[in-house]
Amino acid sequence: MALFIGVDIGGTKVLATAVSRSGRVLRTALRTTPGRRVEASLVEDALTEAVQEIAGIRRISAIGIAAAGFVDAQGERVRFAPHLPWRDEGVRARLAERWSAPVVLDNDANCAARAEVVYGAVGDAENALVITLGTGIGGAVVLESTVHRGYNGMAGEFGHMQVVPDGRGCECGGAGCWEQYCSGNALVRFVRERGGGDQLTGPMITEAAEAGDPLALEAFASVGTWLGVGVANLVAAFDPEIVVIGGGLSAAGDLLLEPARSALRTSLVGADHRTVPPVVRAALGPEAGAIGAADLARQRFRTAGTRA
Ligand code: BGC
Ligand code: NA
Ligand code: ZN
Repeated sequence: MALFIGVDIGGTKVLATAVSRSGRVLRTALRTTPGRRVEASLVEDALTEAVQEIAGIRRISAIGIAAAGFVDAQGERVRFAPHLPWRDEGVRARLAERWSAPVVLDNDANCAARAEVVYGAVGDAENALVITLGTGIGGAVVLESTVHRGYNGMAGEFGHMQVVPDGRGCECGGAGCWEQYCSGNALVRFVRERGGGDQLTGPMITEAAEAGDPLALEAFASVGTWLGVGVANLVAAFDPEIVVIGGGLSAAGDLLLEPARSALRTSLVGADHRTVPPVVRAALGPEAGAIGAADLARQRFRTAGTRA
């Protein structure tokens, strides 16, 4: 049987998956991302370990990589990645050689959007925005059912739109980027800065909010409101039919999405004179990027009849 693997490499973790033809995750392997100021080879080692854990001794048909960074239009290089050590590196060819398997490469949020279009929450909508909230903000613009790439292949970098002039410093080198106010990192920082404890993680804060913890709820209200304000600007620009929110933070569901919907309604230009798009949770959750990457690999490398 054919084995198509999708690997999502984010700022916090590496998730490798074996994915069926219908988009079902058959197996997963998890590693921690070694960091963003380390040798790139360490990140590639973590990817390799996760892939090996999935494949075992089986022959790999193809691997798709969903990378948290700016992937060039050819899908060859990671040009820049705020949360990873890759800078202008020919990641696709290097890993294909290392793994002796065909490899495809795309931005993580673009992969998530692909999965949500093919199997998930985008459904029949031809125009959609997909936003993933994890370490940072990932974005994708779906226009007429295709992920819009832009000239450099870098369209959809919503996380680095400046929302606060001279605001918080960002891993990209800029300041006041949207992801500094609206992401897993922003959630954790909100709670830590208010004395919530230094060891807290996003999932812990989500759990606390679900249990009614006031500080955790305040953190979600802040991040959710920032989400809605940013979405309002994107809706003004792209007029999508639906807005899909994925990534680790989306596990919080309405704790995050309710403040976002209400901020969208107040901030969106002409809200009373248009259909305000629904803001919904991604159907494939935090596995969407890996599923989309595997799907990309399958579409690119299946050979008629035999391996698909
Ligand atoms: C990066 C994007 C990535 C996103 C989510 C951002 O900081 O610039 O390329 O898609 O984080 O991982
Ligand atoms: Na993107
Ligand atoms: Zn930035």
